[in-house]
Amino acid sequence: DDPAWGKHRLAVIVPYRGAFEELLLFVPHLHKFLCDRRIRHKIFVIHQVDKFRFNRGFLINVGFLLSRDKFDYLAMHDIDLLPINPMLNYSYPEQGPYHLSSPEYHPDYHGRRFIGGILLFTREDFTKVKGMTNGDWGWGGEDNELFTRIRLSKLKLTRASGLTTGRNTFKNTHDESKRPRDKERFDAIKGNQFELDGKYGFHNADYKLERVVNMKIDEADVTIYNVKLHCNILETPWCQTNYTVSDFKKQKNKNAIKN
Ligand SMILES: *[C@@H]1O[C@H](CO)[C@@H](O)[C@H](O)[C@H]1NC(C)=O
Ligand SMILES: *[C@@H]1O[C@H](CO)[C@@H](O)[C@H](O)[C@H]1NC(C)=O
Repeated sequence: DDPAWGKHRLAVIVPYRGAFEELLLFVPHLHKFLCDRRIRHKIFVIHQVDKFRFNRGFLINVGFLLSRDKFDYLAMHDIDLLPINPMLNYSYPEQGPYHLSSPEYHPDYHGRRFIGGILLFTREDFTKVKGMTNGDWGWGGEDNELFTRIRLSKLKLTRASGLTTGRNTFKNTHDESKRPRDKERFDAIKGNQFELDGKYGFHNADYKLERVVNMKIDEADVTIYNVKLHCNILETPWCQTNYTVSDFKKQKNKNAIKN
């Protein structure tokens, strides 16, 4: 037990579905990056195997539930974002949530309130914000809702700064032409993405663990958790892949007439 490694244990939580080439690049790269910096860690790949739309926030909540007994902080981590600058700091964020892929350095997202990509949380702080929303099925928006949770909990968000590598701080391995994202975007029409969806959190992240697979990719350990998420179709019908933005608009109009 080498004291150079510090006492804190990091759970790297990676929401996942189908990005196999990205997984093969990510696991060895991040494992080496963290070992070089003496960060005790385990990589949790939370693999969504149900038939619903991808739900990043829900998967992160599941990763938290699976890791919280043994790990005292977490990094919610996009699989397609590889840290390049050796100064990037994955240490225990004692002062509050720490955004590594800050808008200054993220290759694609530069919004002032952007907190997606890679975000570190102590177990205590993640518990304080009650985790993330489980209601945001489909691509995008859940990180903006989390921004509001952080603000309302009066936690202090800090970000990576003072680096000299600009937009080359990370490498983005996502190839949109090979793996296009879900084009039905509900977040924009559901209303304000920053609005608190407070009924959801890790406490009601209802899921079934189907299988746990331990693997090595090159020399790096990774554990894949196959999970089926539960969707209440009456509450969030947009979890179904045959439910489109135009169905959503129709439903919204019907509700407006009823009220
Ligand atoms: C990394 O972050 C930790 C926790 O906030 C801090 O104590 C430490 O000084 C930082 N290290 C560097 C090299 O900036
Ligand atoms: C989607 O499919 C389910 C059955 O899998 C069906 O019950 C539902 O009506 C369909 N919804 C739409 C909007 O087509």
